[in-house]
Amino acid sequence: MRIPLVAANWKMHKTRGEAASFVSAALPQLASAQGVEVVLCPPYTALETVGRLLSGSRVRLGAQNVHWERQGAYTGEVSAGMLADLGCAYVIVGHSERRRMFGDTDERVRRKVRAAFDAGLVPILCVGETLEERQAGQTESRVTAQVAEGTADLTAEEVGRLVVAYEPVWAIGTGQAASGEEAGRVNGVIREFLRQRFGAAADATRIQYGGSVTSRNAAEFLGQPEVDGALVGGASLDPEEFVTIVRAAGA
Ligand code: PGA
Repeated sequence: MRIPLVAANWKMHKTRGEAASFVSAALPQLASAQGVEVVLCPPYTALETVGRLLSGSRVRLGAQNVHWERQGAYTGEVSAGMLADLGCAYVIVGHSERRRMFGDTDERVRRKVRAAFDAGLVPILCVGETLEERQAGQTESRVTAQVAEGTADLTAEEVGRLVVAYEPVWAIGTGQAASGEEAGRVNGVIREFLRQRFGAAADATRIQYGGSVTSRNAAEFLGQPEVDGALVGGASLDPEEFVTIVRAAGA
């Protein structure tokens, strides 16, 4: 039985003060939601503030990116150990915005996933096809290739703890969400691939959907047996909106 995971990806939004206001407005409802695990992923600068406010609650802290090395001369980068030290439990890896704008290749994503597990974090591995790839009939092959590379260094036990977020690139921030049925179908393709490679451990892997999830369409995704939660961008910035999505995922 997989417990759905709903994660807020705030991207480059919210100062510490704004993050604290969100937490004070939403935490009581987020912490009391049953049958769902909740993660907040603020920007690096607000991690400590949010972590302190979440401490003692069931809501977990996550980061949006990580470097693959443990330490060194990597100006501007942050290691997985540093994130663990701040109290992070999760880290988003390979988000399409990072793949598109910041050079996150499949190879780098593989190393980041490994670094996350090595530091005791659980990676949320993002995969998804572009509109061109979808139109060319390459959705399954692209998504499977990203999952294959991202999990190449993992044991079956780690794959059981891994979170995968299927986020079609054309659906992110566009208001053009996939249909629940299509999200469920592609998530099923991902699980079948993981099963073939890692065996029964893949039955425990949580596979989220992300891309224009809102309080209005959340139930359509979360009602799919192969959709184990959501990675929410824009709609996670508003406490009421995010709480409604979390409730839709809960028992
Ligand atoms: P969106 O972003 O919900 O704003 O489409 C999702 C994401 O990028 O994780």
